[in-house]
Amino acid sequence: MSKEEERLRLKSVRIQNWKGFKDCKLELYDGLNVLVGPNSSGKTSLLEAFKFLKKALVQTESPYLPHLEWWTYRNIVYGNDETKPIRFELEFQLPEEHVATYEAVFTGAGGMVTLAKERIDLKNVVSLSIEGNVLTIEYDEHFFEKHLSLLKENGISIKVKFNVELISLLQVKIGFGLFKKYEESQVVLLSLFLFRNIPDFEFLVREVKLLSPNLTSLDEPLVTYTLYNLKKFFASSLLIKHPDLVGIRQPQTHKNGDVISERGENLAAILHRWFLQGGGRLPDRIERALQNLFPYFTLRPDITVDGRVFLSIQDGMYGARLDPPSIPDGFYKLLHVLTAVESKPSILLIDELENSLHSEILEYIVEELKNANITSIVATHSPIVVDVAGLECLQLLERTSEGNKVRRVENLEEIQRWMREKKLTPSEMWLYQLQ
Ligand SMILES: Nc1ncnc2c1ncn2[C@@H]1O[C@H](COP(=O)(O)OP(=O)(O)OP(=O)(O)O)[C@@H](O)[C@H]1O
Ligand SMILES: [Mg+2]
Repeated sequence: MSKEEERLRLKSVRIQNWKGFKDCKLELYDGLNVLVGPNSSGKTSLLEAFKFLKKALVQTESPYLPHLEWWTYRNIVYGNDETKPIRFELEFQLPEEHVATYEAVFTGAGGMVTLAKERIDLKNVVSLSIEGNVLTIEYDEHFFEKHLSLLKENGISIKVKFNVELISLLQVKIGFGLFKKYEESQVVLLSLFLFRNIPDFEFLVREVKLLSPNLTSLDEPLVTYTLYNLKKFFASSLLIKHPDLVGIRQPQTHKNGDVISERGENLAAILHRWFLQGGGRLPDRIERALQNLFPYFTLRPDITVDGRVFLSIQDGMYGARLDPPSIPDGFYKLLHVLTAVESKPSILLIDELENSLHSEILEYIVEELKNANITSIVATHSPIVVDVAGLECLQLLERTSEGNKVRRVENLEEIQRWMREKKLTPSEMWLYQLQ
């Protein structure tokens, strides 16, 4: 199985009580999703939901303040009602036709955000949930019946309830080498270790034995695969907004070059590293785009006397060397987006893609996103983005009395036929018919 097939594919997200979303379900397309809707219809809020989940589920350092950027729990809960929980439910397609649903519920009593409940449901297999400090493991009835003898032989009960003290199911460790295969039944028995999660101080709380199907193509238990990849999914989601056009021009220290930042400040550090790794060449995606869109520029990451990196351009047409203050905004914007794509996030979220970009570059980027083989959600007000993406990528957001709602274009083929007959473009359809 290739790396591509190995990753989790996000199919849908249900959002409850997050900012302007009272209860809303987003059914995602594989590849590019273009989020359109009036000002204040929730585009930015929807993208930020992924950022909150990353902070809340992966970056769990203490003090636990995943909401800090939005100041208070009050600001992130629908209608400022602190008594309401915020709930996310994400559905993923897994290898070998398996489906996983991940649920996370947050509460904010007294302004402190707590992960109150977490559940991983492997359809037709098993569901693991932690609510408060109780862990529950519940096998699917049919799965259980089928493997009953194995369970009996190994003294495993179907429902385990005991108190645990840990932040998140995603922090659970699976015992390596401790799983036992039952070839004839395609299931494995594995040990799940529950650690109390205190930074720099982890100790074993409990060990739970668990049955899981084995993914034959990967030779890995479904449960281990899912726990590990769910965490990876949230960890490598990436939100970018319009670059900070002052910050992006400041020379950067080398070490600041792991993941491209939301506003692109560390762009030079990342490109410098890629440039060195590529023996004086940037990744093909970036080289190709620059040749197409800025053929008269040669980009060279450079270094200051005190060892910080910055971008510099040779303008072959005008015979000038351009240091950061003279590099055009659109050039930075293009590099910021391409660097985000090239880092192959599990899901790429881009707010207001069109800012600073001429239509030709905007079209190029949308094509690139369509062909990049990553799931992306792009918020825009630009008809150009809609035209290049097509109606089949649109996610229409609107404000309703029941909070923000999102929907895909219904009767797509019929509408596309009508559009061709009337010689309308996708953006004309969107602006005059679908809103
Ligand atoms: N805690 C909350 N409770 C209810 N509604 C909220 C809350 N926080 C934000 N909102 C709603 O969400 C709106 C902001 O949404 P958002 O910024 O996501 O819109 P947008 O579609 O990105 O708009 P634009 O196109 O102008 O960028 C606010 O105007 C408000 O109506
Ligand atoms: Mg916005």
